Amino acid sequence: MCGIVAYLGSREAYPILIKGLHRLEYRGYDSAGVAVINEAGDLNIYKAVGKVANLEQVAAGHDCSGTIGIAHTRWATHGVPNEANAHPHLSQSGELTMVHNGIIENASPLRNQLKEKGFTFRSDTDTEVLLQLIEYTQKKHGVDLVCAVRSSLKKVIGAYAIAVIDRKDPGTLVAARKGSPLAVGLGEANCEFFLASDASPLAGYTNKVVYINDEEVVELRRGEEPAITNLNADKVDVRAKEIDIDVNMLDKGGFPHFMLKEIFDQPAVLRDCMRGRLLPSHHRIILSAVTEHREELIHARRFIMVSCGTSWHAALIGKQLIEQFCRIPVEVAYASEFRYSDPVVGPGDVVFALSQSGETADTLSAIQLASERGAMVFGIVNAVGSSIARASDTGTYIHVGPEIGVASTKAFTGQTTVLTMLALAIGWEKGTVSESLYLEALEALEQIPDQIARILEKDDEIKALAQEYVDKRHFLYLGRGMNYPVALEGALKLKEISYIHAEGYPAAEMKHGPIALVDEDMPVVFLATHHNLYEKIISNMQEVVSRKGKVLAIVSEGDTVVKGIAQHVIEVPHTPNYLCPLVSVIPLQLLAYHIAVAKGLNVDQPRNLAKSVTVE
Ligand code: G6P
Repeated sequence: MCGIVAYLGSREAYPILIKGLHRLEYRGYDSAGVAVINEAGDLNIYKAVGKVANLEQVAAGHDCSGTIGIAHTRWATHGVPNEANAHPHLSQSGELTMVHNGIIENASPLRNQLKEKGFTFRSDTDTEVLLQLIEYTQKKHGVDLVCAVRSSLKKVIGAYAIAVIDRKDPGTLVAARKGSPLAVGLGEANCEFFLASDASPLAGYTNKVVYINDEEVVELRRGEEPAITNLNADKVDVRAKEIDIDVNMLDKGGFPHFMLKEIFDQPAVLRDCMRGRLLPSHHRIILSAVTEHREELIHARRFIMVSCGTSWHAALIGKQLIEQFCRIPVEVAYASEFRYSDPVVGPGDVVFALSQSGETADTLSAIQLASERGAMVFGIVNAVGSSIARASDTGTYIHVGPEIGVASTKAFTGQTTVLTMLALAIGWEKGTVSESLYLEALEALEQIPDQIARILEKDDEIKALAQEYVDKRHFLYLGRGMNYPVALEGALKLKEISYIHAEGYPAAEMKHGPIALVDEDMPVVFLATHHNLYEKIISNMQEVVSRKGKVLAIVSEGDTVVKGIAQHVIEVPHTPNYLCPLVSVIPLQLLAYHIAVAKGLNVDQPRNLAKSVTVE
């Protein structure tokens, strides 16, 4: 998740690039950079760690002139966020420079091949590898830039949106995409070009846009109309569209709130999270942390998961997955409690830190303590290069892109996805998961993004339902087994953004207290998907209905039994039991969102909360 911008035309490029970067900052903001070729043919590159504002400070007072340039705002994947890893990258000769959004999965073997041919590398990034490959191809075969780009892209596996320019040819900009978005805005006489990861940087300049498709390469030449080809150099029609961009919604990718955007991001980002790791066609899950620390993991005495908030709910799911697939005992602790509990922890234990931001103070202190006492620390973090990532001995990033809405959504499903892959990978190495179950799980996990996309189609239905619950003061959320943490998460989402009091419980516990609260004014949300304990959930539901409670149930597609009991049902696709949280949580995210919007509340920045809690 990075943002790229490029310009070629007759205006000064730098202000257009900087404005575009600000609009794409929601895509990542751990470093930024810009490259511009001036009238004299000099290539000037400026980079800074952190936000685009830092880049502006670095570039201030230097030569930023020129009518062609490329720029980037980064969400680190390969390599920590520092200046060397920031884009634009420079080729070996210093002639080509490139920005990239995506992940080149075979960067490591390509890097080795290029090293053998005498190439050296200034950064740890996959981007620099692709750029050097383009330069190698260009020089070896004496071809022009667009040919070199096409032929290099045929050799890479992974996702990319790239923009590359050549100091020796300041009238040409070449760009391409596969898997990562790319739009070209057509300015004056179709010969002025604005290129970006989404259409937002184009606003105010042009409303004529060409969306580049996968495996297409666009060549933009000064004074000429754009030329698009596929990787085999066959010509592709240029399909320009008129679009209407509301400048106020720009950073949210067209959604009214970051939270809704992030809920809708889930199919795409979970594919990113699994890319290069879940390989059903090879019958494998490959997580480098498991490969590198195989022995410590399979022989661990026990696992302990420390985290806070939504990440703690993901940990409760992780416990069930690991115990089922790996038969290793797992404890789940609130990081804030763990750190002050004089915990019995030491060598032979693996402590997992789950954190979206990677900066939560309690979680960081908990792992520092565990580390001091000799445990191995395994980070499951979204923010690359964050404090928790750096303080961990090893880990697996969730790679779901920046999460800006305070109420966590895609990070939760990303953590759950990583925990599932982790449990399966360790279980496979340990021999505690059967081959048939392992293969079934790989295939089923691969289906999850499409299944989530199908649930998102019910957004209007859930929005309409939300209106019926706006005036309620209290909610109960009930689930069992894998759906119990989902009940907790559904309740947390609702209270965080709608300020309605909500409690999550294991459904069977209801009769030990919470049932006293049930009356006609108490909505009870049941997680009643078709999994083990389904019949028992139905009994719990009957107990609520017979006390006049109003039931909203999340059920599996085609369920007829619950329809006869509950006031409202929302259907989700069938999954194996161990994957049900990934689908059953989605309607609860949408329900909380729509209730909060209907109440007129600030969904993205709810009162009293913060996205990254760096204090105790
Ligand atoms: C804050 C956020 C929550 C988040 C929790 C843990 O309370 O508002 O959304 O779940 O911190 O954050 P982490 O970044 O460690 O996952």
